[in-house]
Amino acid sequence: ACCHNPTGFDLSREQWDQVLEVVQARKLLPLIDFAYQGFGDGLEEDAYGVRLLAENVDEAIITSSCSKNFGIYCERTGCLILIAKDEESMLDVRSQAAITARENYSNPPAHGGAVVIDILEDDTLRGEWQSELTEMRERINGLRRDFVEALKPYGLDEQFAFIAEQRGMFSYTGLSPEQVDRLRDEFGIYMVRSGRANVAGFSTENLPYVAKAIATVVKG
Ligand SMILES: Cc1ncc(COP(=O)(O)O)c(C=O)c1O
Repeated sequence: ACCHNPTGFDLSREQWDQVLEVVQARKLLPLIDFAYQGFGDGLEEDAYGVRLLAENVDEAIITSSCSKNFGIYCERTGCLILIAKDEESMLDVRSQAAITARENYSNPPAHGGAVVIDILEDDTLRGEWQSELTEMRERINGLRRDFVEALKPYGLDEQFAFIAEQRGMFSYTGLSPEQVDRLRDEFGIYMVRSGRANVAGFSTENLPYVAKAIATVVKG
């Protein structure tokens, strides 16, 4: 839905509108993986594509995760939203979902869900959560801009400008597996060999070092 993992590329509103057209024309069943709500441009803004599809298709599956935006990865908390075209189909969908749940985990862990309900139902806690989420989002988006800025002295800001345009925790840097190996071996900077970097791992303190290391491996 937003903050695409692993690429960092998000769809614009116009592109979501086009996705809807394709889904409708081909009668597709969309499954929307919504794992980073609030990490992109805002809780509401990030839901654009999800809402657009939910309101305009007969059937959809939405998987919403609380792992990141509530910081409770280990509690396995999230939400499955199923949309069906009428009450009768919904009864079928519900019974299938119940069978799947029964076969998979039978009963979900309760603690994480209870934490999220407490936060969302209490105005003060909800407000605190929203402002902490905003802080996290702004930090990541700020680091994205600072990363490109830090590469400017090396003449690499244009090559990496897309990082500041993208959203979420991850981006493909475009670095080759060999360049990633050099970053690890010579500079102690770690990312997967596909070149995907966790932007949240940057910090104001380490950015100059990271930029210098990237410049060294990019320039040969
Ligand atoms: C796009 C995406 N969907 C889902 C998940 C997993 O969510 P959950 O922790 O709720 O299983 C992740 C990352 O862990 C993810 O990046």
